[in-house]
Amino acid sequence: MDPMDEGEQPPAPSPENAQWHGARMDFSQAMRYGDYLGLEQILSAQHPLSPDHNEMLFIVQHQTGELWIKLMLHELQAVRTLVAGGDLPPAFKMLARVARIMDQLVHAWDVLATMTPPEYSAIRPYLAASSGFQSFQYRELEFILGNKNPAMLAVHRDAPGQHARLERELHAPSIYDEAVRLLARSGLAVSPERLARDPGLPTAHDDSVMAAWLAVYRDPGHHWALYELAEKLVDLETAFRFWRFRHVSTVERIIGFKAGTGGTAGVSYLRKMLDVVLFPELFALRTKL
Ligand code: HEM
Repeated sequence: MDPMDEGEQPPAPSPENAQWHGARMDFSQAMRYGDYLGLEQILSAQHPLSPDHNEMLFIVQHQTGELWIKLMLHELQAVRTLVAGGDLPPAFKMLARVARIMDQLVHAWDVLATMTPPEYSAIRPYLAASSGFQSFQYRELEFILGNKNPAMLAVHRDAPGQHARLERELHAPSIYDEAVRLLARSGLAVSPERLARDPGLPTAHDDSVMAAWLAVYRDPGHHWALYELAEKLVDLETAFRFWRFRHVSTVERIIGFKAGTGGTAGVSYLRKMLDVVLFPELFALRTKL
């Protein structure tokens, strides 16, 4: 019988008996969302040093960027293994994901661009010499994509774990090196010098690699998987170029031509980085088609 028929009132909602669309409300014995995600650690890791309101934006923007870089590295390490094993379909899925993450980071600059020069000047003295230049994850990302530069290890000398990780990545074949090896294993002629090159050096143009990719692009139907791999890499590099461009444009908008906190000349340094080409032959071949 419905208790209401006897004139009884339903218990007043309280935190103890709360109901909401069948959702589980009691987590005294179960893992909840925040436990699974470690939110207590993540959300207590913002420590503004200045009294300025806008420093929180600056911190959160960098921290979220680092989290996305973490995911990109996770995906790209798996991509390298898959390409080395010739298992391309799952690698395509991951490469597409990484390019979309990069796109998202490109749009994230819109949020930071709401920071004006006086707002940044208020926090700049508190940043001391810290700069994204010292991001070991970013350097690892550059390395796994083939932009190797041993000089960058020095920044991490006093952090042995990070230094070791970067040194390992410096000497490991990049994703592009693995793609070039796959070209050779697929029967396309790649020079022995290119295949035996020191993986600790930045990627350099190689005529035999260019000829091999050209063969792929001239007959995509015959080399469909390699063709798709090449286009996925071009997608990724294109998104990365946009990220670099938005970085330097946002930096110019906020600090003009002042030097960076990391010690470089600032915008002019970042502009030079716009010239980096990760997968040289994949862009050069377009002129030949
Ligand atoms: C107001 C905001 C920002 C300013 C003024 C700024 C400025 C700079 C400058 C001047 C450099 C060159 C190194 C130096 O001398 O410091 C640099 C490098 C760098 N920044 Fe930023 N940045 C800002 C935001 C960000 C954000 C949000 C991220 C990442 C999420 C980031 C990531 C990096 C990285 C990875 C480098 C190294 C680039 C390379 O060596 O190619 N920056 N930044």
